[in-house]
Amino acid sequence: MLKKIVLAGGTGFIGQYLERAYTNDGYIVHIISRQPGQVSWNDERAIVDALEGAEMLVNLAGKSVNCRYTEKNKREIYESRTRTTEALGTAILKCKTPPKLWINSSTATIYRHAEDRPMTESTGELGTGFSVDVGKAWEDVFFRFKLPKTRQAALRMAIVLGADGGVMEPYVNMVRFGLGGKQGEGKQMFSWVHIEDVCRIIEFLKQRKDLQGIFNVSAPNPVTNKELMAHMRQAMGRRAGLPAQKWMLELGAMVLGTETELILKSRWVLPERLEKEGFRFQFDHLDRALWQIVQELKQEQ
Ligand SMILES: NC(=O)c1ccc[n+]([C@@H]2O[C@H](COP(=O)([O-])OP(=O)(O)OC[C@H]3O[C@@H](n4cnc5c(N)ncnc54)[C@H](OP(=O)(O)O)[C@@H]3O)[C@@H](O)[C@H]2O)c1
Repeated sequence: MLKKIVLAGGTGFIGQYLERAYTNDGYIVHIISRQPGQVSWNDERAIVDALEGAEMLVNLAGKSVNCRYTEKNKREIYESRTRTTEALGTAILKCKTPPKLWINSSTATIYRHAEDRPMTESTGELGTGFSVDVGKAWEDVFFRFKLPKTRQAALRMAIVLGADGGVMEPYVNMVRFGLGGKQGEGKQMFSWVHIEDVCRIIEFLKQRKDLQGIFNVSAPNPVTNKELMAHMRQAMGRRAGLPAQKWMLELGAMVLGTETELILKSRWVLPERLEKEGFRFQFDHLDRALWQIVQELKQEQ
């Protein structure tokens, strides 16, 4: 029988990468989406059918946080995560042969602004504020489901780096236009993970049937923002770049319709559990990850 997996919110940056990887590996991939031609969120019967007998469900659905935090956007950011998670759990309960594993996205932003010490699953402290509240609610809905036949893992993902989406394009453009210096004070930590490692972690969790719960999905060597920008300039062959002060970022964010939190919050997260369980990152240092991505971007041009 053909093996199948289900990707909810699978039309985005991470979902497309996973779809390619698992299709190449011989899996049938079902996608739950708001887009035509996919399994619709409004069709519970179709969602249950897609989930029946699946090896794994990965939920990636959520309105992008790269927008202004107006009341309307905040509501959509929140509900697009909690409601989709709720819908999936409810559908799993209706399956005769439920998926063996349910991986739900979460976010490393759930931890507090940290300049003093790294946050791990065992010693990290959760923060406060809108983005943190979204993360907490997302995980609460997820873990409220008690599913005897389905392992559950929440991925507290750091910023995912890859050629085909996420933050690479804005960073590359900043360096290209001479703005590749530090942002704000430059001391804020930048926790990141290469998209290839995100896929490898998902496969690792699929195979390791003894694992469940919360996992920090973040490379083991985070850097400061100042180091990030130096690595970016190096990968792109630029010697210098102008720094951007906080007020400039605030003005820029308003013009671009985004928030400075995405750049200025100090995210210092370590993958304690994954490393303890023996996962080895292919991209453990940022210079290697950025070099690979910049090469891929050059090939695509
Ligand atoms: N990329 C990162 O650096 C990062 C870091 C930490 C956490 N995460 C989380 O990981 C997940 C996947 O990330 P990604 O980078 O692949 O995101 P993405 O490219 O923005 O894709 C997310 C998908 O969510 C669906 N979606 C958007 N708005 C929605 C809404 N209002 N209701 C229901 N579904 C909606 C879309 O699918 P359809 O249009 O097909 O419905 C979209 O393809 C997200 O939840 C994100 O918050 C990402």
